[in-house]
Order: sequence, then C-alpha cells, then structure tokens
Amino acid sequence: MTAQPKRTLLVTSALPYANGAPHLGHMLEYVLTDIWARFQRMRGHDCLFIWASDAHGTPIMLKARQEGITPEQLIERVGAEQRRDFGEFDISYDNFHTTHSDENREVTYEIYRRLVAGGHIRRETIVQAYDEQARMFLPDRYVRGTCPRCGALDQYGDSCEVCGATYTPADLLNAVSVVSGTAPVQKESEHLFFKLSDFEPMLRAWTGGDRLQSAVTAKLGEWFGAGLRDWDISRDEPYFGFEIPGETGKYFYVWLDAPIGYLSSLLQYCRRTGRDFEQYWKPDSDAEVYHFIGKDIVYFHTLFWPAVLAGAGYRPPTSVFAHGFLTVNGLKMSKSRGTLISARTWLDHLPAEYLRYYFASRLGDSVDDLDLNLDDFVAKVNSDIVGKLVNIASRCAGFIARGAAGKLASTLADASLQREFAAAGERVAALYEGRDLAGALREIMALTDRANLYIDQQKPWLMAKDPARAAEVQAVCTQGINLFRVLAVYLKPVMPKLAAGAEKFLGLPSQSWADAATPLLGTAINAYEPLATRVDSAAVKALLAASSESLKPAGVPAAAATDQPAKGAAKTAAQPAAPPAELSIDDFMKVDLRIARIDSAELVEGADKLLKLGVDLGELGKRQIFAGIRSAYEPSQLVGRLTVVVANLAPRKMRFGLSAGMVLAAGPGGQEIFVLSPDAGATPGMKVK
Ligand code: MSP
Ligand code: ZN
Repeated sequence: MTAQPKRTLLVTSALPYANGAPHLGHMLEYVLTDIWARFQRMRGHDCLFIWASDAHGTPIMLKARQEGITPEQLIERVGAEQRRDFGEFDISYDNFHTTHSDENREVTYEIYRRLVAGGHIRRETIVQAYDEQARMFLPDRYVRGTCPRCGALDQYGDSCEVCGATYTPADLLNAVSVVSGTAPVQKESEHLFFKLSDFEPMLRAWTGGDRLQSAVTAKLGEWFGAGLRDWDISRDEPYFGFEIPGETGKYFYVWLDAPIGYLSSLLQYCRRTGRDFEQYWKPDSDAEVYHFIGKDIVYFHTLFWPAVLAGAGYRPPTSVFAHGFLTVNGLKMSKSRGTLISARTWLDHLPAEYLRYYFASRLGDSVDDLDLNLDDFVAKVNSDIVGKLVNIASRCAGFIARGAAGKLASTLADASLQREFAAAGERVAALYEGRDLAGALREIMALTDRANLYIDQQKPWLMAKDPARAAEVQAVCTQGINLFRVLAVYLKPVMPKLAAGAEKFLGLPSQSWADAATPLLGTAINAYEPLATRVDSAAVKALLAASSESLKPAGVPAAAATDQPAKGAAKTAAQPAAPPAELSIDDFMKVDLRIARIDSAELVEGADKLLKLGVDLGELGKRQIFAGIRSAYEPSQLVGRLTVVVANLAPRKMRFGLSAGMVLAAGPGGQEIFVLSPDAGATPGMKVK
C-alpha cells in the first residue's frame, strides 16, 4: 500500500433547523457525511466534522411563540434532541454548536463589515406581503392562495406545486396569511442586498471544471444563463436572528448567517482545543473543506456561500457534495402521509447501524433521489450482514475456541487469498473516497461471498471429525477469521459498532485502514458473541405504526416549516396516499365533499381506464376531473347526472391535463364501479356532511 501524504480535511453536514427533531431524510445526509469522515480518519488523515443547528428565522420564531416559550428555549431543547439522536446514530461530529451563538454573531458581523467595506451591499425598497393583524412581513411560504395560472387552490406564495408556475405572493388569488388567516396587504420596506453579480467571474471560475457533480454543474449553467440576481439579506422585525449593525429593526436573513455557522462552530472548537482556525479559511489554506448538502440547497452553497466567503476574504470550499432526497417505500417523506419516520422512532425499533448499512448501499455520487424500501431493508440486512458477513466469524470461532484453545494458527492456510483481500483495500478506498458507498459495499460483499466460499470448500466441520486434522482445522479457521477481520475493517466507516465488536472478539485495538494488510497470527482471540442479529419484520411493522401514530395535528402548518424558497429540485407531483391510518374527526372535516353535476364526459386518448369529466360545483365553479371509471361507464351514461366529489383535493397534473378533484365511486373495479348519486333535491355545490 502506498502511503498517502496526510491531509487536513474539514467536513460539514447542512445545519438542521432547530424547530424539529431529525427524520430519516436528514439522517441520510448525516450518515453519508459521517461515513466519509470516518473513512478519512481511518486512512490516517486529520478530518474534522464540524456542525451546528440552524437556529434563526421565522418558522423558529413562530414555533416558539406557539409553544409559549422563547426561541432560545426552543433551540436549546431541539439541540439536545438533535445531539442525542445523532449520538445514537454514531455520527462522529467533533463539534455541534448553534448559529444563535456569540461566535456566530462575531463572525457574521465581521463578514458583513467586510462586505460593506468592499462595496458589496446595496439598499433597495421593496414591496412585500404584510400581515396587519400579526404585524409582520410574510415570507412567501407564509402566504397561500389560488394559483393565478392554473387555479389550483391553496398554493404557496412563491410557486404552484400543481403547474409549476413561479410568482410572488401578490399574484396569488384570494391570498391568505398562514399566520393570522387574514388577507395580507402590500407594504414597502427598505432591504439590504448582497451584490451577487459582483462575483460572477469568481463564481464561474470556481464552479467550472469538474469541481462539482455533473448534475450540479448543469444546474449552475441554467442559473448563470438566467443571470445572477442580487440577494436580499435583510428581514424586518419581528424576526429571530442577529440585528444588523447600524440599522434599526432589521435582521440578517437566516440564510446569511446559517452557513457562517460552519465557521463559527469551528471557531468555538478551535478555541476549546487550541487548534488554528485560520489554517482552514485563510485564502491560501491547503486544508480541504467539503460541505455535504441536499439537492434543495445547492443554490445557497454553490453561489451565495462562495461569493460571501470571497467578499469577506476567505477561501471558498474545496467542493460541495449534493445528494438526493430520501423516500420511504416509494413515498415522499411527509407528516400527513405517515411516511415521516423520525430518527427517534427508528432508534426505538431498530438498530441505527442497519440503517447506516442500508443507506450506504444506496448512496453514490449522484443527486438522484433514493428509496428506503423497508422489505428490501430487512432482506438486505438479514442476507448481507447476518447471513453472510457475520456468518464467517461465527462459523470459524467455535473451532478456534474448542479445538485450538482460543488461539489462531501462526501461518495462514491460503496466503494468496489473504493477499487478494488486502489488495482490494485500495480499490475499496478509492470508492469511499469518491463517495460511491454503494460501490464500496458491492466490493466488500463480493469479498464476503469469496470468504464464505472458501469455508464452504474447506469444510472445517468435516475435518474436525478427525482428531488428526486439528492443525488443519485451526489453519482454515484462522484464515476465515483473518478474512473476516479485513472485511470488518473495510466496513468500519459504515458499521462502527459491528467493527468494534469484531475488534473485541479478535482482541485488537481500534483498527485503521492499513491494519487490514497485516494478518493476525498466533494470537489469542476472545469468545465469540453474536455480532449481529436478524431483523424481524415485526419491528418494521411496529416502526411504521409508531410513525403514523405520531401524527399530531400540526400547529404551524407543516407546509410552512421553512421560510426558504420552494425547494424546486425536491418537488414532485402529488403522490399516492400511504396505507390508511386512523383519521381524527378534525382530519375528516378537512375533506370538502360536494355535490357535482357532470356536464361532459369524454374518452382519454392513451388512457383506456380514464374518463375526462367536466363537472359543475355550483358556487365553487367548474372543473375538470379525470376518473378511473371507463371500464364501467360509457361517457354518455354520465352526462347530466349528479354525483359526489372531493373538492379540495390538491389538483394533480396528469399526462393528459389537470385533475382538480376526485369523483367518489364504490366497487371492486372493472365493470363493477358504481358512481355515487345523491337523492333528489341536492344541487351542485352543496356540501356533503
Ligand atoms: N437549515 C438549512 C441548512 C442550512 S446549511 C447552512 C436546512 N435545514 S433542513 O433541516 O431543512 O435540512 C437539513 C439537510 O437535510 C439539508 O441538506 C436537506 O437537504 C436534508 N434533507 C431534508 N430532507 C431530506 C430528505 N427527505 N432526504 C434527504 N435529505 C433531506 O435546509
Ligand atoms: Zn398552478
């Protein structure tokens, strides 16, 4: 193995908002970051994992208000939950601070001072939605109303989830403030803007080449093409954040001081440990800095952040690694669908380490979304970890304990096989280095199969029947255990607990990557204790049940849990519903059932199950709905009749057009579909109660 020069690395995960406990989508990112950091440390590099909670902004202010506590109390409480959950997932961060800290105020003020001095800040009066009752300006996500383009109801103030239109809250029809429920007015206010355009040449150079993932580079091309717009970095009071020096009633927008948290958390760490802070961020630093983030926050990290750093005289990150979004059983993580599994709920039911393994098996260097399919999870863990990997140790351990007094042989039975395993180390390492975790695990599992094959061929259980072959049994099992030892080292970044168990079994100190190259011979090993146990699918069922039970009526609408712009990249069309969960009466009352008159019905070309219906909902107007009832009805049978529809279903954009509601029908399907009809007297638009 060629010795690499020792590198100095600083890695970060995105700073989780301090208004809620982490869920499995967050954990995907933190596990990815952690595996990479652990890998780097095992390779002998100096790798810090610096982190914090993102404590500022409107959602946190409102959430605290709603709970009757101060924002400081909220972030303290959530911060404690975050640390606990991250600890139990074995996330090996070196520091976890908060952006609402003295250090962050200090660094933010200094950066702002430098940006002002450099002429990178300008003022502009803008008009914004204002809630007169709550006496506050409203972030776009806190205004909801009807899409001006497609008429979809209940859309955010910045974009329509149905037709994809983007606009400002002023364009929404029937706009309502999410805070007070009143109609917002338009009001002027002076804001401070960061002149992003000043940094275009620097950003083009920094984002060029192959520094970033290709999908990110492509996205940046679009953004440059559209032109870089200056960035509004101020917010009016009331706001929870840092007041802007020299201004009255103005605060820094949370996204200005959030990434600065990367610096200030490091600053706190350096002050505590006596490390040199400057070595990481000075312009000519040779430390490597990497930010792991989700694809929804690429703009902030590849444009605003490097520009702010440059404007303040700091070096930009070495790279930014974006990943896709996690879905669970094919569904977007969502509280209301019961597919939001919190880190805590997972820990209550299943080992964190198995999830780490599963995540790693799905993670590559791509921004594609990835799915946690729970059946696949159970099958994979039981097969790979329990059935194959740990099996190597458990098959060999007994023979060493009983037949060789717990001692390994002093030579290997198959030295060339051992060399093959050692030689694979650089290949596996290169995959980890390139964040192709799935690739690394594929290599490791191929070696695992090879090790099991070796034992299958040697059949120590047969040899052991003949007392004269004791030495051979010992040699073969020493070989098996040595192969297992190499695999445990390679897997250690992903499964640190299992690796620690293996070290204890083998009587070894904490292993580094290079240790795998030297076989373990002639030493005593300890009694084998099971290193992994099978996942019971009952535990998965209980996990899902607990996740849908934990559905509480959201206080601050879940939809407005963030005040950042629509996470465009993460958006997908409406998704099918999760398995039925018990519905509270409050939930049921949200369903707006109405009498509708079917005015028209047509076949849909290319969709032989659908009919396109034009329905009249009286006071709610006319709509188009696609219904999967073609197999039971000729279009003409339906025209003119009354039926019942769900009127407030989020409109779905289908291949054939928009479907704005759902027709209720009974029956198993095929010809047996029965559209519901009201008794005589009902008229279009009547509410069904
Ligand atoms: N506070 C900001 C980040 C500031 S960084 C200076 C934020 N916080 S977050 O809590 O909403 O998200 C934290 C990270 O988790 C982000 O990188 C985000 O992309 C990621 N994820 C949130 N939901 C996710 C999934 N469902 N799947 C994968 N990652 C997800 O954004
Ligand atoms: Zn729309």
